[in-house]
Amino acid sequence: MTKPWKEYNKLTSIQLEKLHELNDLNGSKWAQMSKSVQKFNGGIAKKRKEHGAAFPISLAKQLIEIFTQKGDLVLDPFLGVGTTTDAAQLLGRDSIGFEINKNFIKLAKQGIDKIDRSKDDFNEETKEEIIHDNCLNIKKYIKNNSIDFVLTSPPYFNLLNNTIDVFGGTNYKKNIYNSSKRSLAKPYSTDPQDFGNLKWEDFCKNVTQLMTILFDVSKAGTYNVWIVRDFRDMQNKIPYVNLHNKIVELASKAGWILTDIVIWDQTDQRHLVKLGGKKSRRFYFNIGHSYAVILRKNIEGEKFTNSN
Ligand SMILES: C[S@@+](CC[C@H](N)C(=O)[O-])C[C@H]1O[C@@H](n2cnc3c(N)ncnc32)[C@H](O)[C@@H]1O
Repeated sequence: MTKPWKEYNKLTSIQLEKLHELNDLNGSKWAQMSKSVQKFNGGIAKKRKEHGAAFPISLAKQLIEIFTQKGDLVLDPFLGVGTTTDAAQLLGRDSIGFEINKNFIKLAKQGIDKIDRSKDDFNEETKEEIIHDNCLNIKKYIKNNSIDFVLTSPPYFNLLNNTIDVFGGTNYKKNIYNSSKRSLAKPYSTDPQDFGNLKWEDFCKNVTQLMTILFDVSKAGTYNVWIVRDFRDMQNKIPYVNLHNKIVELASKAGWILTDIVIWDQTDQRHLVKLGGKKSRRFYFNIGHSYAVILRKNIEGEKFTNSN
């Protein structure tokens, strides 16, 4: 597929105008997609069940449709089994993804599961690159100001290491992250470069470094969306880790501007368990939602800022 920005000088004024549009949505689709609380349904492809923490392809498709046009280039620094690259391909966008775990790379390279295909698929050729490397090495592969949209979901610090033992006062079998539809997500690897194996301070340092890299490789006026969930770190007696807020704080250090936080309602996908206890005088809610943290890079001259 021809990338219009590669031949910028040869474009007609109509093509140039199109180049500056955000997406290909019509008005009613635009309004539907702007709900700030959303559920994402549909079947789960086998490779995503195996991963255990993959996001639904319907979520990836919706966000790619909102924030890109056909022919744009989408990046996912934590690719997992390739949901972002699959969704991009189905919508006629090029894509590039980084993943540190070679087993997930193999699954990502399997391509699109038939469960994810529909009659509306884009049928022309698109380009996908799936790279087995630490996402902190992105600049070895991608030039500055070349990415049209970043969509990702990071490891949630060491949440998955915690869930193996005790979590929220319940044991592994009764864990609230168990679900009838998929296996409980396990730690992704023992690799020290895996963000899921880092101490909190190093996790924050690496996320800031990655946010800076993403800022540099993204074009002005483009978006960077992180899917994250808050959690409890009971081993360290921290009842609530406000991860989505931390991600905003770290992103803003790198220059990203927070434009929205959308709630992904997952209450239908989780078993409810009783957390806390009368005698301990503690009541915990079953955390049944994630956030889409939506960040944007200012175009030169724009003066949007983050609140204090
Ligand atoms: C929440 S999962 C992403 C799942 C993905 N959205 C999908 O649908 O398959 C986070 C992924 O980040 C990967 N990862 C962790 N540290 C990484 C690093 N430094 N570089 C690249 N990938 C990393 C993990 O192996 C894991 O697959």
